[in-house]
Amino acid sequence: MLPYFPFSHAFDHRMGTAPLQAHELLIEVDDEYRHEIALKRDLLAQDLRYYFQALPATELAQWDVLERVLTETAKRYPQYFSLTQTGDQWHWQNNLLAEEFHFIFGDAGTLPQAPLDWVGRQVQEDLLILSADGTAALVAGQLCFPNGWCMDDKIGQTFLGIHRPAPTMVQPTMQAAHKLLEHIPAHRPIWRASWNFKITDQLDLSTKYSAGYNNELAHLAPTLTSSTVGDQIFIRIERQTFSRLPRSGAILFGIHTYQNTLANEAADIDHAKKILGTLQTTPRDMLDYKAITPFESAMLHFLEEKIASASL
Ligand code: HEM
Repeated sequence: MLPYFPFSHAFDHRMGTAPLQAHELLIEVDDEYRHEIALKRDLLAQDLRYYFQALPATELAQWDVLERVLTETAKRYPQYFSLTQTGDQWHWQNNLLAEEFHFIFGDAGTLPQAPLDWVGRQVQEDLLILSADGTAALVAGQLCFPNGWCMDDKIGQTFLGIHRPAPTMVQPTMQAAHKLLEHIPAHRPIWRASWNFKITDQLDLSTKYSAGYNNELAHLAPTLTSSTVGDQIFIRIERQTFSRLPRSGAILFGIHTYQNTLANEAADIDHAKKILGTLQTTPRDMLDYKAITPFESAMLHFLEEKIASASL
């Protein structure tokens, strides 16, 4: 089952943000760890510039991210990771991958990659940096598992600019989200979860795959019925965290992507009802934007039948 389930009987156009509580994790390690890290490293080896970019003058923020991610993961998962800091001499041990690194904090020459690129290869999350200048512009990021975008599309754009293609109805929400981000205090991260439905569980859905995805969608969608859609459609959840970084004042935006088939999730009838309620109340613009419309009716039938058979 999905570890996060952001459906609640009706479509919610609000931001859905909440403070990250002390017991909640900034970085999550799960059973997919080894597989997803290997996948990330493969993608970065194939085309580094496509998956990792950093504008000039972001090095301080990159070290901020490295410190935040390493201290968090070592503290929360001591059985998997350990971090020893002796002044600027840091020693990182990753027991899951049987690898260790010695480096000097603040000296990028002592790491095999740029600090953000290196630390991103240690965790499943995509890690992005938003500027501290009041515009929350995307200034750096390692982005291997995006849903329909890529660094080239958005690097250098402000938070509001990034969201301009989203439906008009969410633009007031985006204004509110921008204000919220600007006021995140250090050490008080927030989080939210976003949802979508896809015809594949391919984690890397970067822009370069969009035309292929849409083609496949056009062929597959008309063939889907209430008896096949449950196994062919994947629910894709992004757990997103936002943290103010102490030295640079920039914001770390972390994205952990989780997936499950619609059928597995709808086996829980309460979940089936919530997904149905959400779908039935999601505005048409949003269903079109999320590319759900082509299989919407098959999904509705599947969920209605599931719920009806459970109440017999
Ligand atoms: C509280 C913060 C945020 C909120 C409430 C928010 C909300 C949204 C919403 C409502 C959409 C439209 C579709 C959907 O629901 O999936 C969207 C799309 C998107 N968001 Fe965010 N978002 C937030 C933070 C961010 C940040 C920090 C980035 C940074 C890069 C980002 C990147 C994107 C992108 C790339 C899209 C797709 C835009 C396109 O179609 O080109 N979001 N977001």
